[in-house]
Amino acid sequence: MSNFLLKDAIYNCRAMRRLKTDEVPEDLLLQLIDAANQAPSGSNSQRARWIVVRDAEVKQQLAAQNRLHAEPYIAPNLKNPSSPQQKRMLDAVVWQMDHMHEIPALIVACFDYLQAVSGVEIYRQAGSVWPGIQNLLLTARALGLGAAPTTLALRDQDAVRKILKLPETFAALCLIPVGYPLGKFGPVSRRPVAEIMRFDAWEK
Ligand SMILES: Cc1cc2nc3c(=O)[nH]c(=O)nc-3n(C[C@H](O)[C@H](O)[C@H](O)COP(=O)(O)O)c2cc1C
Repeated sequence: MSNFLLKDAIYNCRAMRRLKTDEVPEDLLLQLIDAANQAPSGSNSQRARWIVVRDAEVKQQLAAQNRLHAEPYIAPNLKNPSSPQQKRMLDAVVWQMDHMHEIPALIVACFDYLQAVSGVEIYRQAGSVWPGIQNLLLTARALGLGAAPTTLALRDQDAVRKILKLPETFAALCLIPVGYPLGKFGPVSRRPVAEIMRFDAWEK
């Protein structure tokens, strides 16, 4: 990992959805969480919590949640993809949907609100969890592990709390399937900077 430049990780950290079933050593999983845990949080609250799911039965249940919400979400575009790129992404989302239960580790990023939360409230402190998620994704890339941030499986928070035995004070914000990639890593493709930034103000 030490020879891997941060820039390489940032510019080559594609969502890797097609993953091998090979086990990921526990020390690598712990490195991912340790990296996530270095991220900043509002008021340094450090209330992001991480569940690394390896149990087959629990993975099945999360995979079922993912299918329940991913199928209707992608159905319209699947019938009529807007571009070859979108078609490729949707094919990968379908692959992930069909294989999620076989992926060696499903990491669920949570936030502990210290009081019961529901509805849109669960996103209030999302900014204190996502920096850790990005640290995790970049570290996975540096370790040669494939990963992708996902949220569809977590739409029914009550169901997820039940599956993972989370307290009602926890919100589950992101599910990151992790494993060795079946395909090749490659550069991300993004809009040019000139299109997405202005100096000083947006309008001239
Ligand atoms: C907030 C957020 C939610 C996402 N939810 C899902 C999801 O539910 N399922 C999925 O397959 N990918 C999900 N993704 C991954 C995005 O589709 C992916 O990051 C984006 O298409 C860019 O992919 P690339 O880095 O390979 O170019 C999510 C990403 C983010 C940041």
